[in-house]
Amino acid sequence: MSRLLGDPPASGALGATEVSPEEIVSRVERSGLRGRGGAGYSTGAKLRAVLGSAAGGREPFVVANGYDADRQSPIAATLLERQPRRVLDGIAIAARAVGATRAYLYLHPESTATRTGALAALSTAASDLGDLGVEIAIGPGGFAGGEESIALAVLESRKAMARQRPPYPAREGLRGRPTLVQSVETLAWLPSIVREGPDGFRASGTAATPGTKLVSVTGAVARPGVYEVGFGTTLGTILDGAGVAAGLKAIHVGGPTGGLLAASRRDVTLDYAELAAVGAHLGSAQIRAIPAETCVVAEAGRLFAYLAEESCAICVPCRVGTKRVEGILAGITSGLGRTADLPWLTEIGDQMARFSLCGFGITAPQILRTTMAEFGAEYRAHIDDGRCPTGTCAPTRVRRYERMVQP
Ligand SMILES: Cc1cc2nc3c(=O)[nH]c(=O)nc-3n(C[C@H](O)[C@H](O)[C@H](O)COP(=O)(O)O)c2cc1C
Ligand code: SF4
Repeated sequence: MSRLLGDPPASGALGATEVSPEEIVSRVERSGLRGRGGAGYSTGAKLRAVLGSAAGGREPFVVANGYDADRQSPIAATLLERQPRRVLDGIAIAARAVGATRAYLYLHPESTATRTGALAALSTAASDLGDLGVEIAIGPGGFAGGEESIALAVLESRKAMARQRPPYPAREGLRGRPTLVQSVETLAWLPSIVREGPDGFRASGTAATPGTKLVSVTGAVARPGVYEVGFGTTLGTILDGAGVAAGLKAIHVGGPTGGLLAASRRDVTLDYAELAAVGAHLGSAQIRAIPAETCVVAEAGRLFAYLAEESCAICVPCRVGTKRVEGILAGITSGLGRTADLPWLTEIGDQMARFSLCGFGITAPQILRTTMAEFGAEYRAHIDDGRCPTGTCAPTRVRRYERMVQP
Protein backbone atom coordinates (compact mmCIF):
# COMPACT_ATOMS: atom_id res chain seq x y z
CA MET A 1 0.00 0.00 0.00
CA SER A 2 1.27 3.49 -0.77
CA ARG A 3 1.98 5.84 2.10
CA LEU A 4 0.81 9.44 2.21
CA LEU A 5 4.28 10.80 2.82
CA GLY A 6 5.92 8.36 0.42
CA ASP A 7 6.91 9.03 -3.17
CA PRO A 8 4.99 11.74 -5.01
CA PRO A 9 2.49 10.24 -7.47
CA ALA A 10 3.25 10.36 -11.19
CA SER A 11 1.95 13.57 -12.70
CA GLY A 12 -0.89 13.54 -15.18
CA ALA A 13 -4.25 15.22 -15.53
CA LEU A 14 -5.60 15.68 -12.04
CA GLY A 15 -8.73 13.71 -11.24
CA ALA A 16 -8.43 11.90 -14.57
CA THR A 17 -9.46 8.30 -14.27
CA GLU A 18 -11.35 5.77 -16.32
CA VAL A 19 -13.47 5.10 -13.28
CA SER A 20 -17.04 6.46 -13.36
CA PRO A 21 -18.32 8.73 -10.58
CA GLU A 22 -20.53 5.93 -9.24
CA GLU A 23 -17.56 3.52 -9.23
CA ILE A 24 -15.36 6.10 -7.46
CA VAL A 25 -17.91 6.33 -4.66
CA SER A 26 -18.25 2.55 -4.57
CA ARG A 27 -14.46 2.03 -4.33
CA VAL A 28 -14.17 4.55 -1.53
CA GLU A 29 -17.06 2.86 0.29
CA ARG A 30 -15.37 -0.54 -0.09
CA SER A 31 -12.02 0.85 1.09
CA GLY A 32 -13.44 1.64 4.54
CA LEU A 33 -11.75 5.09 4.42
CA ARG A 34 -12.74 7.20 7.43
CA GLY A 35 -12.31 10.96 7.71
CA ARG A 36 -8.91 11.97 9.07
CA GLY A 37 -10.08 15.38 10.37
CA GLY A 38 -11.10 14.06 13.79
CA ALA A 39 -14.55 12.49 13.90
CA GLY A 40 -13.77 9.49 11.68
CA TYR A 41 -16.99 9.53 9.68
CA SER A 42 -17.11 7.20 6.67
CA THR A 43 -15.87 9.05 3.58
CA GLY A 44 -17.78 6.72 1.26
CA ALA A 45 -21.02 7.47 3.12
CA LYS A 46 -20.34 11.21 2.86
CA LEU A 47 -19.63 11.04 -0.87
CA ARG A 48 -22.81 8.99 -1.32
CA ALA A 49 -24.85 11.54 0.66
CA VAL A 50 -23.52 14.50 -1.39
CA LEU A 51 -24.11 12.63 -4.63
CA GLY A 52 -27.69 11.87 -3.53
CA SER A 53 -28.38 15.49 -2.52
CA ALA A 54 -26.94 16.74 -5.81
CA ALA A 55 -29.21 14.45 -7.82
CA GLY A 56 -31.95 17.08 -7.99
CA GLY A 57 -29.73 19.38 -10.06
CA ARG A 58 -28.26 21.24 -7.05
CA GLU A 59 -24.61 21.49 -8.05
CA PRO A 60 -22.42 20.64 -5.06
CA PHE A 61 -19.18 22.16 -3.74
CA VAL A 62 -16.06 20.53 -2.35
CA VAL A 63 -14.29 22.07 0.64
CA ALA A 64 -10.84 20.67 1.41
CA ASN A 65 -10.16 21.42 5.05
CA GLY A 66 -6.45 22.22 5.39
CA TYR A 67 -6.90 24.60 8.31
CA ASP A 68 -4.79 22.90 11.02
CA ALA A 69 -6.83 24.39 13.87
CA ASP A 70 -4.47 22.87 16.42
CA ARG A 71 -1.27 24.75 15.61
CA GLN A 72 0.76 22.07 17.36
CA SER A 73 -0.44 19.55 14.82
CA PRO A 74 0.55 20.87 11.37
CA ILE A 75 -0.69 17.83 9.47
CA ALA A 76 -2.32 19.61 6.53
CA ALA A 77 0.69 21.91 6.19
CA THR A 78 3.05 18.91 6.11
CA LEU A 79 0.97 17.18 3.49
CA LEU A 80 0.51 20.27 1.34
CA GLU A 81 4.22 20.96 1.53
CA ARG A 82 5.36 17.40 0.73
CA GLN A 83 2.53 16.09 -1.45
CA PRO A 84 0.62 19.05 -2.94
CA ARG A 85 -0.10 17.15 -6.14
CA ARG A 86 -1.63 14.23 -4.25
CA VAL A 87 -3.93 16.61 -2.35
CA LEU A 88 -5.00 18.42 -5.54
CA ASP A 89 -5.57 15.08 -7.25
CA GLY A 90 -7.74 13.99 -4.30
CA ILE A 91 -9.76 17.20 -4.53
CA ALA A 92 -10.23 16.67 -8.28
CA ILE A 93 -11.33 13.05 -7.83
CA ALA A 94 -13.79 14.02 -5.08
CA ALA A 95 -15.19 16.77 -7.31
CA ARG A 96 -15.54 14.31 -10.20
CA ALA A 97 -17.31 11.82 -7.92
CA VAL A 98 -19.97 14.26 -6.72
CA GLY A 99 -20.18 16.40 -9.88
CA ALA A 100 -18.69 19.63 -8.48
CA THR A 101 -16.96 22.24 -10.63
CA ARG A 102 -15.88 24.47 -7.72
CA ALA A 103 -13.68 23.52 -4.82
CA TYR A 104 -12.11 25.48 -1.98
CA LEU A 105 -8.87 24.77 -0.18
CA TYR A 106 -9.49 26.22 3.28
CA LEU A 107 -6.37 27.35 5.17
CA HIS A 108 -5.39 29.04 8.43
CA PRO A 109 -4.32 32.70 8.13
CA GLU A 110 -0.96 31.93 9.77
CA SER A 111 -0.17 29.20 7.23
CA THR A 112 1.55 31.66 4.91
CA ALA A 113 4.22 29.26 3.63
CA THR A 114 1.56 26.61 3.00
CA ARG A 115 -0.56 29.15 1.14
CA THR A 116 2.37 30.20 -1.05
CA GLY A 117 3.21 26.55 -1.80
CA ALA A 118 -0.42 25.70 -2.53
CA LEU A 119 -0.76 28.68 -4.88
CA ALA A 120 2.38 27.59 -6.76
CA ALA A 121 1.09 24.00 -6.99
CA LEU A 122 -2.27 25.25 -8.23
CA SER A 123 -0.78 27.42 -10.94
CA THR A 124 1.46 24.53 -12.13
CA ALA A 125 -1.55 22.20 -12.13
CA ALA A 126 -4.05 24.62 -13.66
CA SER A 127 -4.07 22.97 -17.08
CA ASP A 128 -4.50 19.50 -15.47
CA LEU A 129 -7.62 20.45 -13.54
CA GLY A 130 -10.00 20.46 -16.51
CA ASP A 131 -13.11 22.50 -15.78
CA LEU A 132 -12.61 22.35 -12.01
CA GLY A 133 -11.95 25.73 -10.38
CA VAL A 134 -10.00 25.46 -7.12
CA GLU A 135 -9.79 28.55 -4.93
CA ILE A 136 -7.75 29.09 -1.77
CA ALA A 137 -9.88 30.45 1.09
CA ILE A 138 -8.48 31.79 4.34
CA GLY A 139 -10.18 31.06 7.65
CA PRO A 140 -10.56 33.39 10.63
CA GLY A 141 -7.72 32.13 12.83
CA GLY A 142 -8.30 30.49 16.20
CA PHE A 143 -9.06 26.90 17.13
CA ALA A 144 -12.80 26.86 16.38
CA GLY A 145 -12.20 28.11 12.82
CA GLY A 146 -11.42 24.55 11.63
CA GLU A 147 -14.90 23.28 12.48
CA GLU A 148 -16.83 22.58 9.30
CA SER A 149 -19.90 24.74 9.84
CA ILE A 150 -17.67 27.65 10.87
CA ALA A 151 -15.60 27.10 7.71
CA LEU A 152 -18.80 27.30 5.65
CA ALA A 153 -19.88 30.48 7.46
CA VAL A 154 -16.50 32.05 6.64
CA LEU A 155 -16.78 31.00 2.98
CA GLU A 156 -20.15 32.77 2.90
CA SER A 157 -18.55 35.91 4.43
CA ARG A 158 -20.61 35.48 7.60
CA LYS A 159 -19.39 35.72 11.19
CA ALA A 160 -17.17 32.78 12.17
CA MET A 161 -19.78 30.92 14.21
CA ALA A 162 -21.02 27.36 14.10
CA ARG A 163 -24.47 26.32 13.02
CA GLN A 164 -26.93 23.70 14.18
CA ARG A 165 -26.96 20.34 12.40
CA PRO A 166 -28.90 18.68 10.83
CA PRO A 167 -29.09 19.70 8.06
CA TYR A 168 -25.55 18.44 7.47
CA PRO A 169 -23.38 20.09 4.81
CA ALA A 170 -23.82 17.03 2.56
CA ARG A 171 -27.44 18.11 2.13
CA GLU A 172 -27.34 21.86 2.83
CA GLY A 173 -23.87 23.32 2.97
CA LEU A 174 -22.22 26.25 1.24
CA ARG A 175 -24.85 28.69 -0.05
CA GLY A 176 -27.50 26.08 0.75
CA ARG A 177 -26.04 23.59 -1.73
CA PRO A 178 -24.77 20.05 -1.05
CA THR A 179 -21.15 20.32 0.12
CA LEU A 180 -18.47 17.75 0.67
CA VAL A 181 -16.28 18.94 3.55
CA GLN A 182 -13.27 16.68 3.87
CA SER A 183 -9.87 17.09 5.47
CA VAL A 184 -6.96 17.31 3.03
CA GLU A 185 -5.50 14.17 4.61
CA THR A 186 -8.66 12.21 3.77
CA LEU A 187 -8.72 13.58 0.21
CA ALA A 188 -5.06 12.67 -0.31
CA TRP A 189 -6.04 8.98 -0.06
CA LEU A 190 -8.49 9.10 -2.96
CA PRO A 191 -5.98 8.83 -5.87
CA SER A 192 -4.47 5.54 -4.70
CA ILE A 193 -7.79 4.04 -3.50
CA VAL A 194 -9.55 4.87 -6.77
CA ARG A 195 -6.75 3.98 -9.20
CA GLU A 196 -5.25 0.96 -7.43
CA GLY A 197 -8.53 -0.30 -5.96
CA PRO A 198 -9.58 -0.49 -2.32
CA ASP A 199 -7.91 -3.80 -1.38
CA GLY A 200 -4.37 -2.52 -0.81
CA PHE A 201 -5.68 0.24 1.41
CA ARG A 202 -7.83 -2.17 3.40
CA ALA A 203 -4.84 -4.42 4.02
CA SER A 204 -3.21 -1.98 6.44
CA GLY A 205 -4.32 -0.44 9.73
CA THR A 206 -7.15 -2.28 11.48
CA ALA A 207 -10.35 -3.90 10.25
CA ALA A 208 -12.42 -1.06 11.74
CA THR A 209 -10.09 1.68 10.51
CA PRO A 210 -7.85 0.80 7.58
CA GLY A 211 -4.82 2.78 6.46
CA THR A 212 -2.34 5.07 8.12
CA LYS A 213 -2.71 8.35 9.97
CA LEU A 214 -0.48 11.37 10.24
CA VAL A 215 0.08 12.25 13.88
CA SER A 216 1.95 15.10 15.51
CA VAL A 217 4.11 14.03 18.44
CA THR A 218 4.94 16.88 20.81
CA GLY A 219 6.04 17.59 24.38
CA ALA A 220 8.68 15.61 26.25
CA VAL A 221 10.17 13.81 23.24
CA ALA A 222 13.58 14.12 21.60
CA ARG A 223 12.26 14.22 18.02
CA PRO A 224 8.92 16.06 17.87
CA GLY A 225 7.24 16.17 14.48
CA VAL A 226 4.67 14.73 12.13
CA TYR A 227 4.82 10.94 11.74
CA GLU A 228 2.84 8.51 9.61
CA VAL A 229 1.66 5.48 11.59
CA GLY A 230 -0.77 2.65 10.96
CA PHE A 231 -4.09 2.62 12.80
CA GLY A 232 -3.75 0.07 15.58
CA THR A 233 -0.25 1.23 16.58
CA THR A 234 0.09 1.67 20.35
CA LEU A 235 0.62 5.11 21.85
CA GLY A 236 3.79 3.74 23.47
CA THR A 237 5.26 2.72 20.11
CA ILE A 238 4.46 6.15 18.65
CA LEU A 239 6.08 7.93 21.60
CA ASP A 240 9.13 5.65 21.55
CA GLY A 241 9.58 6.38 17.84
CA ALA A 242 9.81 10.07 18.71
CA GLY A 243 12.27 9.44 21.55
CA VAL A 244 10.05 9.90 24.61
CA ALA A 245 11.68 11.06 27.85
CA ALA A 246 11.78 8.73 30.87
CA GLY A 247 9.34 9.17 33.77
CA LEU A 248 6.39 10.45 31.82
CA LYS A 249 3.33 11.69 33.72
CA ALA A 250 0.59 11.60 31.10
CA ILE A 251 -0.21 11.25 27.41
CA HIS A 252 -2.47 13.96 26.01
CA VAL A 253 -4.26 12.58 22.97
CA GLY A 254 -6.32 14.54 20.43
CA GLY A 255 -5.28 18.18 20.83
CA PRO A 256 -6.82 20.95 22.97
CA THR A 257 -10.09 19.11 23.65
CA GLY A 258 -8.48 15.65 23.89
CA GLY A 259 -8.11 13.41 26.94
CA LEU A 260 -5.14 13.20 29.30
CA LEU A 261 -4.31 9.56 29.95
CA ALA A 262 -2.00 8.20 32.62
CA ALA A 263 1.45 7.37 31.22
CA SER A 264 0.77 3.70 32.03
CA ARG A 265 -1.72 3.62 29.15
CA ARG A 266 1.01 3.01 26.60
CA ASP A 267 -0.84 0.01 25.19
CA VAL A 268 -3.89 1.96 24.08
CA THR A 269 -3.93 1.88 20.30
CA LEU A 270 -4.55 4.59 17.76
CA ASP A 271 -8.12 3.63 16.96
CA TYR A 272 -11.35 5.62 17.17
CA ALA A 273 -13.20 3.09 19.33
CA GLU A 274 -10.30 2.37 21.66
CA LEU A 275 -9.53 6.05 22.23
CA ALA A 276 -13.22 6.71 22.90
CA ALA A 277 -13.28 3.82 25.39
CA VAL A 278 -10.59 5.52 27.49
CA GLY A 279 -12.24 8.95 27.24
CA ALA A 280 -10.06 10.50 24.53
CA HIS A 281 -10.42 10.98 20.79
CA LEU A 282 -8.27 11.25 17.71
CA GLY A 283 -9.19 14.94 17.23
CA SER A 284 -6.28 16.89 15.80
CA ALA A 285 -4.06 13.77 16.10
CA GLN A 286 -1.63 15.50 18.43
CA ILE A 287 0.00 13.08 20.87
CA ARG A 288 1.70 15.08 23.59
CA ALA A 289 4.06 13.60 26.16
CA ILE A 290 3.50 15.38 29.47
CA PRO A 291 6.56 15.31 31.74
CA ALA A 292 6.62 14.01 35.34
CA GLU A 293 6.76 17.35 37.12
CA THR A 294 3.49 18.65 35.59
CA CYS A 295 0.44 19.29 37.78
CA VAL A 296 -2.43 17.71 35.87
CA VAL A 297 -5.10 19.88 37.52
CA ALA A 298 -3.21 23.02 36.48
CA GLU A 299 -2.79 21.53 33.01
CA ALA A 300 -6.57 21.01 32.75
CA GLY A 301 -6.98 24.62 33.91
CA ARG A 302 -4.62 25.92 31.23
CA LEU A 303 -6.50 23.98 28.56
CA PHE A 304 -9.88 25.33 29.68
CA ALA A 305 -8.51 28.89 29.84
CA TYR A 306 -7.44 28.46 26.20
CA LEU A 307 -10.81 26.96 25.21
CA ALA A 308 -12.72 29.76 26.95
CA GLU A 309 -10.80 32.22 24.73
CA GLU A 310 -11.30 30.16 21.58
CA SER A 311 -15.00 29.28 21.90
CA CYS A 312 -17.01 30.80 19.04
CA ALA A 313 -19.47 31.69 21.84
CA ILE A 314 -22.69 31.12 19.90
CA CYS A 315 -23.98 28.43 22.25
CA VAL A 316 -24.41 28.82 26.00
CA PRO A 317 -23.14 25.41 27.22
CA CYS A 318 -19.74 26.02 25.64
CA ARG A 319 -19.47 29.78 26.15
CA VAL A 320 -20.45 29.65 29.82
CA GLY A 321 -19.21 26.12 30.53
CA THR A 322 -15.61 26.73 29.45
CA LYS A 323 -15.47 29.93 31.57
CA ARG A 324 -16.95 28.25 34.63
CA VAL A 325 -14.66 25.26 34.44
CA GLU A 326 -11.68 27.58 34.02
CA GLY A 327 -12.74 29.48 37.15
CA ILE A 328 -13.38 26.39 39.27
CA LEU A 329 -10.06 24.83 38.31
CA ALA A 330 -8.23 28.08 39.06
CA GLY A 331 -9.89 28.02 42.49
CA ILE A 332 -8.71 24.47 43.13
CA THR A 333 -5.13 25.21 42.07
CA SER A 334 -5.21 28.33 44.27
CA GLY A 335 -5.97 26.24 47.37
CA LEU A 336 -9.63 27.34 47.52
CA GLY A 337 -11.21 24.09 46.31
CA ARG A 338 -14.07 22.26 48.05
CA THR A 339 -15.20 18.66 47.72
CA ALA A 340 -18.42 19.86 46.07
CA ASP A 341 -16.36 21.28 43.19
CA LEU A 342 -15.85 17.77 41.82
CA PRO A 343 -19.52 16.91 41.16
CA TRP A 344 -20.00 20.49 39.97
CA LEU A 345 -17.26 20.03 37.36
CA THR A 346 -18.81 16.70 36.34
CA GLU A 347 -22.23 18.32 35.98
CA ILE A 348 -20.94 21.19 33.83
CA GLY A 349 -18.96 18.75 31.68
CA ASP A 350 -22.06 16.58 31.17
CA GLN A 351 -24.16 19.59 30.18
CA MET A 352 -21.50 20.77 27.73
CA ALA A 353 -21.19 17.36 26.11
CA ARG A 354 -24.95 16.99 25.87
CA PHE A 355 -26.06 20.41 24.68
CA SER A 356 -23.15 22.05 22.81
CA LEU A 357 -23.69 22.83 19.16
CA CYS A 358 -20.43 21.51 17.75
CA GLY A 359 -17.55 19.14 18.46
CA PHE A 360 -15.63 21.84 20.34
CA GLY A 361 -17.96 21.91 23.35
CA ILE A 362 -19.00 18.27 22.98
CA THR A 363 -15.45 16.97 23.34
CA ALA A 364 -13.91 19.57 25.72
CA PRO A 365 -15.21 17.73 28.85
CA GLN A 366 -12.88 14.85 27.96
CA ILE A 367 -10.17 16.88 29.68
CA LEU A 368 -12.19 16.83 32.92
CA ARG A 369 -13.33 13.24 32.69
CA THR A 370 -9.90 11.80 32.01
CA THR A 371 -7.98 13.89 34.53
CA MET A 372 -10.58 13.32 37.26
CA ALA A 373 -10.65 9.56 36.56
CA GLU A 374 -6.94 8.98 36.09
CA PHE A 375 -5.49 11.61 38.43
CA GLY A 376 -8.28 11.85 41.06
CA ALA A 377 -5.65 11.81 43.86
CA GLU A 378 -4.18 15.07 42.52
CA TYR A 379 -7.55 16.81 42.66
CA ARG A 380 -8.07 15.45 46.20
CA ALA A 381 -4.64 16.64 47.39
CA HIS A 382 -5.40 20.19 46.21
CA ILE A 383 -8.85 20.14 47.85
CA ASP A 384 -8.26 18.14 51.06
CA ASP A 385 -4.73 19.24 51.93
CA GLY A 386 -4.69 22.62 50.15
CA ARG A 387 -1.43 21.68 48.44
CA CYS A 388 -0.25 20.82 44.97
CA PRO A 389 1.39 17.37 45.04
CA THR A 390 3.96 18.49 42.46
CA GLY A 391 4.59 21.78 44.27
CA THR A 392 4.20 23.69 41.02
CA CYS A 393 0.86 25.48 41.50
CA ALA A 394 1.00 29.18 42.36
CA PRO A 395 -2.29 30.78 43.53
CA THR A 396 -4.01 32.84 40.82
CA ARG A 397 -7.26 33.61 42.66
CA VAL A 398 -7.97 35.04 46.11
CA ARG A 399 -11.70 34.25 46.04
CA ARG A 400 -13.59 31.19 44.90
CA TYR A 401 -15.40 31.18 41.59
CA GLU A 402 -18.97 30.85 42.84
CA ARG A 403 -22.33 30.12 41.35
CA MET A 404 -25.64 31.70 42.30
CA VAL A 405 -26.58 28.85 44.69
CA GLN A 406 -23.64 27.60 46.73
CA PRO A 407 -22.97 23.87 46.55
C1 LIG B 1 -12.96 22.80 17.06
C2 LIG B 1 -12.79 22.00 15.82
C3 LIG B 1 -11.70 22.23 14.98
C4 LIG B 1 -11.54 21.47 13.81
N1 LIG B 1 -10.45 21.71 13.03
C5 LIG B 1 -10.26 20.97 11.91
C6 LIG B 1 -9.13 21.18 11.07
O1 LIG B 1 -8.28 22.02 11.34
N2 LIG B 1 -9.00 20.41 9.96
C7 LIG B 1 -9.93 19.44 9.64
O2 LIG B 1 -9.79 18.77 8.60
N3 LIG B 1 -11.01 19.21 10.41
C8 LIG B 1 -11.20 19.95 11.52
N4 LIG B 1 -12.31 19.74 12.30
C9 LIG B 1 -13.28 18.71 11.86
C10 LIG B 1 -14.25 19.32 10.83
O3 LIG B 1 -15.36 19.89 11.52
C11 LIG B 1 -14.79 18.24 9.88
O4 LIG B 1 -15.36 17.20 10.64
C12 LIG B 1 -13.72 17.67 8.97
O5 LIG B 1 -13.07 18.68 8.24
C13 LIG B 1 -14.38 16.67 8.00
O6 LIG B 1 -13.40 16.03 7.24
P1 LIG B 1 -13.07 14.48 7.37
O7 LIG B 1 -14.40 13.73 7.26
O8 LIG B 1 -12.19 14.21 6.21
O9 LIG B 1 -12.47 14.24 8.70
C14 LIG B 1 -12.49 20.48 13.47
C15 LIG B 1 -13.58 20.25 14.33
C16 LIG B 1 -13.72 20.99 15.48
C17 LIG B 1 -14.90 20.70 16.37
S1 SF4 C 1 -19.60 24.30 21.09
FE1 SF4 C 1 -18.37 26.19 21.37
S2 SF4 C 1 -17.32 26.44 19.42
FE2 SF4 C 1 -19.03 25.00 19.06
S3 SF4 C 1 -20.80 26.25 18.47
FE3 SF4 C 1 -20.90 26.10 20.67
S4 SF4 C 1 -19.82 27.94 21.38
FE4 SF4 C 1 -19.22 27.64 19.27
